[in-house]
Amino acid sequence: MLGRRVAIIAGVRTPFARAGTLFKGLSAIDLGKRCVAELIQRTNLDGDLVEAIVYGTVVPSVTAPNIAREVSLMPMLPRGCEAYTVSRACASANQAITDAVDQIALGNRDIVIAGGAESLSNVPILHSRGMSDKLVALSRAKSAAGRVKILSSVRPRDLVPITPAIAEPSTGETMGQSAEKMSKLNHISREDQDQFALRSHRLASVGSEDGRLTAEIGPVWVPPSYEPGVSSDNGIRTDSTIEALRALKPVFDKRYGSVTAGNSSPLTDGASAVLLMSEERARVLGYTPLAFIRSYAYSALDPGEQLLMGPVLAAPVALHRAGVTLANIDLIEMHEAFAAQVLSNLDGFESRYWAERAGFPEPVGAVDRSKLNVMGGSIAIGHPFGATGGRILMTLTNELVRRGGQLGLMTVCAAGGMGHAMVIERAA
Ligand SMILES: CC(C)(COP(=O)(O)OP(=O)(O)OC[C@H]1O[C@@H](n2cnc3c(N)ncnc32)[C@H](O)[C@@H]1OP(=O)(O)O)[C@@H](O)C(=O)NCCC(=O)NCCS
Repeated sequence: MLGRRVAIIAGVRTPFARAGTLFKGLSAIDLGKRCVAELIQRTNLDGDLVEAIVYGTVVPSVTAPNIAREVSLMPMLPRGCEAYTVSRACASANQAITDAVDQIALGNRDIVIAGGAESLSNVPILHSRGMSDKLVALSRAKSAAGRVKILSSVRPRDLVPITPAIAEPSTGETMGQSAEKMSKLNHISREDQDQFALRSHRLASVGSEDGRLTAEIGPVWVPPSYEPGVSSDNGIRTDSTIEALRALKPVFDKRYGSVTAGNSSPLTDGASAVLLMSEERARVLGYTPLAFIRSYAYSALDPGEQLLMGPVLAAPVALHRAGVTLANIDLIEMHEAFAAQVLSNLDGFESRYWAERAGFPEPVGAVDRSKLNVMGGSIAIGHPFGATGGRILMTLTNELVRRGGQLGLMTVCAAGGMGHAMVIERAA
């Protein structure tokens, strides 16, 4: 990275809860506030020193679209802490983090909190076009007779609401359909997907039981009773079996498909936050960095092609910018949108075709599975779209520190055919 070194000081997240369960009464703003408050408390940080909050979300509130500003308006932070929201689909927290990194590297900021939040339990539900037109006309009607005329024109089809779809606006293809397509194009078998999903649940179970995964979590007390506090993810199936996974029916291609609820990441609520500082300011304040950001990259390909292959194009660039190869990497965290996507991406890393598309003569190489998602991933832990990037960065950072490794690589695929990769370096 050019510019000043950017230190990762600490990170925290809420538990990740399947949508419609424990956090259904909390908005993304509520989750984000609790998470940022926890980060400030845990790090014993003087809130007045925080210069900016950069936050990601994918399905924003219609009434409070700048979630970052709402989160920043908490008692622990000064009103002068600037705050803005970014959106890059499932890499939104990553975008928030790299925006913060850039500002610190450039010397514009010294202390920034970045991350994201998502409440898929609380997505806005819109009126149909016809109903919207009639409501606007109603508000403009000048007489009672005019209003009655408009109201009497409302038809049942006008009352059908529009809910946000996890579908590409450009192609109409849902994420799940894209994962199906990728499984077929890359010859990823159902068995391999289910085995990968099982691995995710087993490793996440171990990481939760031994406290490594739960160490990242700040508990959330949910109103109205506030008891008991929620302090662990509720999607991890400690009792998951390959037989149960094999028995699930495909969701997105019911006849010929292989992508099931079991080998997909679930719709999830949660938030994450990471404290980033310039190396100099961290030293002055007495904070010991966990790691430094060494490089990052973003990529994009045609969404109609293989929607979730972005990491295969971003990772070689991030590695190149860091001046390292896959052989130098001690630990890898890859976002698990679907097992079919992870396995396609891993195949892509070994492919000369994808390497050349990324502008390199040689492939990234074969990923050593013992270094990959060592505490499971989004399939088991969950995937609150706007928060996942912060969760993955902290899982990677903390585990790199625990293992005494030197370099970590993370990747995230995102809607729109986009990808992200980042290389971090443990602080010596
Ligand atoms: C795949 C998806 C449609 C499934 O939604 P769902 O049907 O509400 O999922 P559920 O959690 O109810 O699971 C369905 C069934 O599978 C079972 N199941 C899920 N995971 C399982 C596992 N690991 N082992 C055993 N059974 C499992 C559930 O118990 C449930 O069984 P039931 O119907 O008997 O209760 C939804 O999770 C989804 O859309 N995921 C993809 C999200 C996405 O696109 N993300 C973007 C990626 S970047």
